[in-house]
Amino acid sequence: MSLLVTGIGELVTGDPQVGDGSPLGVLRGAAFVVDAGTVRWVGDAVGAPAADQAVDVAGRSVIPGFVDSHSHLVFAGDRSAEFAARMAGETYSAGGIRATVAATRAAGDEQLAAQLSRHVAEMARQGTTTVEIKSGYGLTVADEARALALAAAATRETTFLGAHVVPQEYADDPAAYVDLVTGPMLTACAAHARWIDAFCEVGAFDVDQARTVLEAGRAVGLGMRLHANQLGHGPGVQLACELGAAAVDHCTYLTDADVDALAASGVVAGLLPGVEFSTRSPYPDARRLLDAGVTVALATDCNPGSSYTSSMPLCIALAVREMRMTPAEAMWSATRGGAASLARGDVGHLTVGARADFAVLEAPTYLHLAYRPGVPLVASTWAAGRQVA
Ligand code: NIG
Ligand code: FE
Repeated sequence: MSLLVTGIGELVTGDPQVGDGSPLGVLRGAAFVVDAGTVRWVGDAVGAPAADQAVDVAGRSVIPGFVDSHSHLVFAGDRSAEFAARMAGETYSAGGIRATVAATRAAGDEQLAAQLSRHVAEMARQGTTTVEIKSGYGLTVADEARALALAAAATRETTFLGAHVVPQEYADDPAAYVDLVTGPMLTACAAHARWIDAFCEVGAFDVDQARTVLEAGRAVGLGMRLHANQLGHGPGVQLACELGAAAVDHCTYLTDADVDALAASGVVAGLLPGVEFSTRSPYPDARRLLDAGVTVALATDCNPGSSYTSSMPLCIALAVREMRMTPAEAMWSATRGGAASLARGDVGHLTVGARADFAVLEAPTYLHLAYRPGVPLVASTWAAGRQVA
C-alpha cells in the first residue's frame, strides 16, 4: 500500500543535493511517496505520482524523525529528590547511579518493560523514531542481560553498559568487577547488544579500565561508544579516537588536542544538553567542535539521574540557545548526526531509499523547534510509513 504525503509547507529532506542547497536540503511545496516502509519518491507536489492513499498535512512542515543516539531507559525508581537537592546547591556525582541500580534490581520484568515502553512512547510523541537504549542499571550478569533483552524488544540500537559504575558489592575490588564485565557479563549480554559502552570518568572507570572493556566488546563484534569528559577534563575522548569508536558522548570538557583528535578521527561527538540543564553545569561548546569540522550528534541521554528528559525538541532549543549552534545545525545533529553516531545510513533523512520515519510539525518551519521552546509542536510521528503517535 503506497502513501503520498502532500500539502507539505516545508520539507526537511536532509539531502544536501536538493532544495536550498544547505545540508538540510529544505524543499517548499514538496511531496513524497512511501511504499513498503521506504521513501520511494521525493519532489515537487505538482509532479507527484499517484499512490494508493494520500495524506494532506495542510501546510505543516515535515522533518525526518529524530535519531536519539543516547538513552538509558531500562530503570526503575525516582531521583527527583536528588534533582531538587542539586537545584538547592548540591553537585552531581556518578554515585547517584547506585540508587537507580538498587531500584532496578528490585523491580520485576513487567514493571521494567512497562516503564520502558512508556518512555519509548513518550519519545515517539515528541518525534523520535530511532532510539539507542543502554543497559547499566543492573550491574550483575542476570540484571544486565535482562535489561538488554528488554531493550532489544524496543530497538535495534542496544548498548551493553555493564561498565557504568562499579557496584557497591565490588567497591573494594574494581578490578574484579572489570573482569566480570569483560567475562561472564559480556558473554551473557553480547547476543542482545549491538554496541559496548563505558563511563570513563572520575568516580566511574579510568582510561585503562575503559580501554579493556571496549576492546573486549570489539573482540566479540560489538561497536564501540564511550561516555567521557562529562564532569571534567580527562583521557576518554582521546581513547575513543584512538580506538576508532563510533561516538564519544558528553564532550563537555575538551582541550584543543581533544577537538583536533575528534576532527582527525571522524569519531562523532555526542552532545547531551539535557545533562547540563539538569545538573546546572556549563554547556559544551558545539560551535568550537563544528568550526573544527567535528561531526556532532544531539541526544537526550534520557535517564533518571543526570537528564530525565525524553525531548529532542528541548535538546535542539538548548543547543541553539546555550551551545552556539544555529537552528539548522541543531536540526541536522538531531537527525543525520544521530544517524552518524549509530552508523546508520537508512535513518535521519528523507531521501529515496531511506526508511520513511518522519514527524509532522504544527509549525510552518522546523525553525520553530528552537524558536518556540517547550511547545508541543509534533502533530504526528510516523515510523516506516505508519503513524505511531
Ligand atoms: O549519561 N554519565 C553517566 N551516566 C548517565 C547518568 C546516569 C545517572 O546519573 O543515573 C549519563 O549522564
Ligand atoms: Fe549516558
